[in-house]
Amino acid sequence: MKITVVGAGNVGATCADVLAYREVANEIVLVDIKEGLAEGKALDIWQKAPINLYDSRTIGSTNDYTKSANSDVVVITSGLPRKPGMTRDDLISTNAGIVKTVTENVVKHSPNAIIIVVSNPLDVMTYQAHLISKFPRTRVMGMAGILDTARYRAFLAEALSVSPKDIQAMILGGHGDTMVPLPRYTTVGGIPVTELIAKDKLDAIIERTKVGGGELVKLMGTSAWYAPGSAAAQMVESIVKDQRRVLPVCIQLNGEYGIKDCYLGVPVVLGKNGVERVIELDLNADEKALLETSRKHVKEVMDVLDKLPK
Ligand code: NAI
Ligand code: 2OP
Repeated sequence: MKITVVGAGNVGATCADVLAYREVANEIVLVDIKEGLAEGKALDIWQKAPINLYDSRTIGSTNDYTKSANSDVVVITSGLPRKPGMTRDDLISTNAGIVKTVTENVVKHSPNAIIIVVSNPLDVMTYQAHLISKFPRTRVMGMAGILDTARYRAFLAEALSVSPKDIQAMILGGHGDTMVPLPRYTTVGGIPVTELIAKDKLDAIIERTKVGGGELVKLMGTSAWYAPGSAAAQMVESIVKDQRRVLPVCIQLNGEYGIKDCYLGVPVVLGKNGVERVIELDLNADEKALLETSRKHVKEVMDVLDKLPK
């Protein structure tokens, strides 16, 4: 198995590190446009192998995609991150160009790969990678839901003073303030969360989750990377090991949830073919309305991409 991670910055390097540490593949290639950066980080991760006891080999490349040839999965993390005061959508024109070039290289050198997009604005960059690659939608997906859900689960674990391992949850929709956390599908050791926490406290956690990315940008001056890199690695692992994990993933909807031609996070089964199945939840009227607001927002940003000079 061969995995390529494009972008050896904060998120990409973290993702490659987690993939190596968990021995998800025997060969992990890091590609970056900045001279020497990918080679350096790949070497550093490889030199950690005798300490952390793994065999996965990490290889770096400065924009030479021949080294990434025939990858099974490619994770695209290349692009500008947010700075304080910016929304994810502010990144669109720069990152659309970067994702376009990178996707063209992926198609040329790894025509059978499954693509996982991480670059922001996430839902629209997934659209861009899908447009450019022309791969089937099952092989082009975006990572956001695992991260957003992890933030929600971590906040709940803290509030309830329980292990985060026992919190199961699902967040739908776009990767932004219009995301749709679903308390009805949130459990703690199998117990509905609503039986364990007061409504006002749960509502406050939901609101904090929605702006969870921004909270970290304010603290650090750039966006997060440990949880995002690990979340992308979890998707790779589910695909490479054909684990068939049920995870929230951004994909083009083709009528599911009554939505067509929009890229939104929904629960899917992730296996060796990529998205093996989209799971449709029976949403109530309030949840449907929130998903519609999220759809409208993502569609507006998709329209911005459509109008950018080609
Ligand atoms: P970073 O600035 O640390 O790394 C980005 C890397 O991309 C840099 O090393 C840069 O040289 C490289 N790059 C730029 N153009 C390239 C090209 N054409 N080919 C190859 N490499 C290129 O940024 P960070 O923090 O790693 O974030 C990366 C992206 O991921 C950002 O767009 C950020 O907003 C997004 N992100 C998305 C999340 C999600 O949940 N989907 C979570 C966190 C970040
Ligand atoms: C995050 O949610 C910025 O999308 C990035 O951390």
